[in-house]
Parts: sequence; structure tokens; C-alpha cells
Amino acid sequence: MGASLLRLFFHDCFVNGCDGSLLLDDTSSFKGEKSAAPNLNSARGFNVIDAIKDKVEEVCPGVVSCADILAIASRDSVALLDGPNWNVKLGRRDSKTASQTAANNGIPPPSSSLSSLISRFQSNGLSAKDMVALSGKEPAQEQVVKATTTSLPWIFRALRNLITNTTRISLPREVSYILINNSLMVDQTDSIVRSFSNNPGYFRSDFATAMIKMGDISPLTGSQGEIRKNCRKPN
Ligand code: HEM
Repeated sequence: MGASLLRLFFHDCFVNGCDGSLLLDDTSSFKGEKSAAPNLNSARGFNVIDAIKDKVEEVCPGVVSCADILAIASRDSVALLDGPNWNVKLGRRDSKTASQTAANNGIPPPSSSLSSLISRFQSNGLSAKDMVALSGKEPAQEQVVKATTTSLPWIFRALRNLITNTTRISLPREVSYILINNSLMVDQTDSIVRSFSNNPGYFRSDFATAMIKMGDISPLTGSQGEIRKNCRKPN
């Protein structure tokens, strides 16, 4: 579940900023991000966010946005899985609407070329190093990595090192997709993977830095947003 919550934060932040827009339910007159292709049948953990929000509203109503809850839940998930920890910036407000088209266009598909991935991350203020760090966070998908990288012995060794040297923080399945679809990634981001592989401490610290940067994407402030009472619908 920790991994799923982290992915919700990524998919929220990459679509018009970290504004809780992903959390809005579709209605008969509104089609939001949950049913966009990158989220439909794969985004998970909405009920956990609801449960957290309910508890927070009980003790401190109308103060903590759903967007901030996603940011804190991501940090706590990673920390509970023995990953790095960081201070979460707070004060994001929740969107009053969401765009399915923006979700379809904003979240990179696994078929993306490396240059497209790098430029999508850059347009959100994140470097190639941030991208590689953020792509190395999911609890072990070792079998998938193994299955998809055996034809690339050096990479496989590097990934194995990364998996062994970092405590339950290893490469996610999307890295294997990226490896399949982008052999170029091996060349262009080779030194970053190598550096993380040799220095797990760099990975932990660069991951934390990249998470803070991702959480900075286009926050809504003031009357641009609101503190939703229920994360699934605007007030
Ligand atoms: C670099 C571009 C990325 C691509 C192309 C990509 C693509 C994917 C795909 C195709 C899946 C499988 C979805 C399914 O279950 O059907 C997935 C899962 C996942 N992604 Fe990404 N992803 C990317 C970046 C990221 C980033 C930056 C994060 C978080 C910081 C992230 C977190 C996750 C997690 C945690 C899962 C597993 C979720 C679960 O099991 O509930 N991904 N990704």
C-alpha cells in the first residue's frame, strides 16, 4: 500500500500540480482523473487517503488539504518501508475541479522514449537525476527486473546491487518498462544508475530531494483552491 500511495502523489503532482485533483470521483456530469488511462484500474489507495482525511477532520476540521495529506502519506509510507525521510512542505490547497485530458497528457506512458521522459520531468522542474531517483523506490520488483534485464548483464548486476544495498527500496517495474523501451536510457542515465548503485546513501538523499521538488509542482494557494471536506468531491 505504501508504494500505491506514493504513486498517487506522483500522478496528482504531474497533472496541474499537487492539488488533490486525482482524488475527485467521477460523477454523471464530470469525468476526472481517476478514469484517465494512466489511473483506471491501476491507481490504488484512495480509501486509505479517505480514512486519513476522516481522522484529521475529526480533530482539526477544515485545515489540512487532501493534497497535503497525499504528500505526508507518501513521505510516511517511504519512511515506514525503511526508505529515506524528509520534511514535507505544507500549505497546498485542493483543486475545485480536475481534467481527464490533462491526466492523459501529463502522466508519461511506459512506451515513452527516454528523451520524452526527461523533457516531461524537466517541464515539471525535475532533472534526469531526479527522475532516476524517483524511479527507484518501489518495494522489490526483483522478478520483473530479472525477467526483463537478463539480456543486459551489466544493468542487471547494477540493479541487483541497488536492490541488495538498499533496504527494501529497489527498482520498480516501470524501470524495467523503461529499460525495454529505451535502451538509450542505459547510455544517457548510465552514470546516474551507476552512482546510485555504488552509493546507496546518494540514492536516499537524492530521492528525498526529488520528492520535495515533486511536491513543489504548482501548488494552489489562497482562493485558487480550497480545503476539501471530502477528498472525493469539491466542497
Ligand atoms: C518515469 C516514468 C514512469 C513511468 C513510465 C511509470 C509507469 C508505471 C506503470 C506502467 C506502472 C504499472 C501500473 C499497473 O499496475 O498497471 C507503474 C507503477 C508504479 N509506479 Fe510508476 N511510472 C513512472 C514514474 C514513477 C514515479 C516518479 C513514481 C513515484 C515517485 C512511480 C511510482 C510507481 C509505483 C509505486 C507503482 C506501483 C503502484 C502499485 O503497485 O499500486 N512511478 N508505473
